[in-house]
Amino acid sequence: MTSDDPRATPAYRDDRAHVFHSWSAQATLDPLVITGGEGAWIWDESGNRYLDFSSQLMNVNIGHQHPKLIAAIQEQAGRLATIAPSHATPARSEAARLIAELAPGDLDMVFFTNGGAEANENAIRLAKLHTGRHKVLAAYRSYHGATGGSIALTGDPRRWPNEPAMPGIVHFWGPYPYRSAFHATSEAEETDRALAHLADTIMVEGPQTIAAVILEPVVGTNGILVPPPGYLAGVRALCDQHGILLIADEVMAGFGRCGEWFSIDRWGVVPDLICFAKGVNSGYVPLGGVIISQTVADTFAQRVFPGGLTYSGHPLACASAVASIGIFKEEGLVERSRAMGDTVIGPVLDELKDRHPAVGDVRGLGMFWAIELVRDRETREPLVPFNAAGADAAPVAEVVGAAKKQGLLVFSHFNRIHVVPPLVTTEDDLRAGLAILDDALTLADAHVT
Ligand SMILES: Cc1ncc(COP(=O)(O)O)c(C=O)c1O
Repeated sequence: MTSDDPRATPAYRDDRAHVFHSWSAQATLDPLVITGGEGAWIWDESGNRYLDFSSQLMNVNIGHQHPKLIAAIQEQAGRLATIAPSHATPARSEAARLIAELAPGDLDMVFFTNGGAEANENAIRLAKLHTGRHKVLAAYRSYHGATGGSIALTGDPRRWPNEPAMPGIVHFWGPYPYRSAFHATSEAEETDRALAHLADTIMVEGPQTIAAVILEPVVGTNGILVPPPGYLAGVRALCDQHGILLIADEVMAGFGRCGEWFSIDRWGVVPDLICFAKGVNSGYVPLGGVIISQTVADTFAQRVFPGGLTYSGHPLACASAVASIGIFKEEGLVERSRAMGDTVIGPVLDELKDRHPAVGDVRGLGMFWAIELVRDRETREPLVPFNAAGADAAPVAEVVGAAKKQGLLVFSHFNRIHVVPPLVTTEDDLRAGLAILDDALTLADAHVT
């Protein structure tokens, strides 16, 4: 639909005339007008229904329009819709306690933000002030948000147009067994070599200058990269050796997405700071935050923390987080995510890999999976080049478009299709969505050489 199409509705026309969208060339957009949703489904103005295999931006973990979450927001709105961060208020206190109870180790304090980028921004602020050092190491294959510091941390091409960025950020290569930067031929080798590379990076940057290493324990947008055994424990050990803080960016991987409350729990590693957002309340109201170890928090016992936000700990957001955590527990969503990954998504993706020559690799855990598409399984040449756009990206866009025609919305990035449905998606819907993908992937097979 275009804005002069007779089918264009007021919502569509006003959007095209007045809404300036994220990450887009504005004139090229043709958005769906979504008017409702329930569970894993959303629908448009004409009543066309779509199965949401991306949980929107990988955040609607409890699904759309959960009645208990809606009720909690309505109830809080009726009681106290807003209050400044300087006051204590029941919804905020309870949300902080519940989140601290979920976090590992002595991560007991929560600084609330409006989203993930602000969480990372404040995590590096905390780390720099706590250590008195100014550098932060971040992975090349990463996304950490679009504010000044967070986009500087980001390793992917979204950083480029924002450079020169915040000084003091140094990027390193994390593990990626399928495309090893270290020519590793096994997971054990990948772990050893990735850790040796990080140790060298720390050595040449000067450990006494480095405040923190930040990483996504399971890398999200940049590939659903599950770290090989021993990697995260090794990073923790390097940080301990040099007095460097470890920041886990759990914005996308946390809150059940990986079949754990926090993805890093899977490896039993305790970071110093955890950044969260997205799945904490499924985005029904904007919310993020940093969970802070007692040791770091103590730095600011008598010393002022020089950061703040008008909406830090907004009551509607916090009430929704309290309700969301209750829903996770009542419905066993963390366990469900793990089970669906192990028994449905993983096995079906393995079958797709057997059937489709364009599928080079499938990987993931919980309800967080990627299908990596190639032109040639032997050489692993990606189906589309790194950071492909326009005509170069067409082979992947065709797959996404074919899925959409059949009512399935999927997220793609570079040469990958991600399978990241709401944690409440029924097994039947999961299988139906994967069957649509199976069909759509034949288009990718046509490009195999
Ligand atoms: C790992 C990670 N960190 C941070 C962010 C930024 O979060 P937000 O868009 O809420 O600022 C994202 C968003 O996709 C993310 O995936």
